Amino acid sequence: MFLDIHITDKCNLRCKHCYFPGDRPQDEMPFEMFRDLVDECAHLVTNVEPLAHGRPERQRVIISGGEPTMHPEISKFVSYVKAKGMLVSVLTNSHRVRELIADVGHMLSEYDFIQFSLDGDKEHHDWIRGRGEYDKILNAMDFMRESQTATFGIHHTIHKGNKHCLEDLLRLKYHYDLHSIGLNFYHERASDLLESLSLEEYEQYCRDARRWIPNADRPKCFTSKGCVGGIVGFSISPRGEYWACSRYQDLRGQYPQKMQDCLDLERARKREFPDSKYTCMKGVK
Ligand SMILES: C[S@@+](CC[C@H](N)C(=O)[O-])C[C@H]1O[C@@H](n2cnc3c(N)ncnc32)[C@H](O)[C@@H]1O
Ligand code: SF4
Repeated sequence: MFLDIHITDKCNLRCKHCYFPGDRPQDEMPFEMFRDLVDECAHLVTNVEPLAHGRPERQRVIISGGEPTMHPEISKFVSYVKAKGMLVSVLTNSHRVRELIADVGHMLSEYDFIQFSLDGDKEHHDWIRGRGEYDKILNAMDFMRESQTATFGIHHTIHKGNKHCLEDLLRLKYHYDLHSIGLNFYHERASDLLESLSLEEYEQYCRDARRWIPNADRPKCFTSKGCVGGIVGFSISPRGEYWACSRYQDLRGQYPQKMQDCLDLERARKREFPDSKYTCMKGVK
């Protein structure tokens, strides 16, 4: 199962490409909701998922947002996932990672990940996210390397304007010995400055990247068998909306409904996953 929980809408940046506009509601997920979702996920993985996938795996909870480190209880959230024996990934713009690591670093294992969103070389990243942002991420990665707490990597969103930044990613990969680089497809928004790749260009980009970075990864919900969003997992908003995934915010349920009643485990058992051109890639050339 994939579980990607957006614990807050709040964010201290206003990135040009963000699918969460700054004028959206500024909600924060209460701890009780987070706890119930994680508990149900643990139950599903133990009792239901093996039916769909054949073998249980150690479950990972992805904590995202908005900027998740702005949630006043993020340390409690991370601690809860670890107390349940699950793995955690935090997707962040890097600003408050030191505070987070000071609180929870001792609980993290080499399989827990901090993923920094890096959108290109210094010029491009700062154009998207604001002046000085690239250096902040590099400082945070220096800190992670020195503190040797969690494993860390980069989450990179690709579009037509930053394809040339692959070389810079490669340099960082070896400089920091990054465990992974996530290659995320950029989805155009209504009022947009950026242009997304075609599907074919994205596939080619991933092939090129993997020649140099073998552990470069595509989003987990976007598999070669098809799109598993809403079938074996959800992205969940701070208000408890169950979305098929963060880029395809098709509403499948609402907390306190049980996720089990909203997932499509029958389709998962039959391995009937739709082609992503009918889901998040709808309308992409
Ligand atoms: C919405 S952010 C939330 C976490 C955190 N604030 C951060 O920037 O890492 C999660 C990821 O989505 C990516 N993202 C934002 N807008 C996107 C879009 N329109 N299409 C695809 N990915 C996008 C960001 O670059 C980031 O890596
Ligand atoms: S830091 Fe993350 S959530 Fe905030 S605006 Fe940038 S991409 Fe969006």
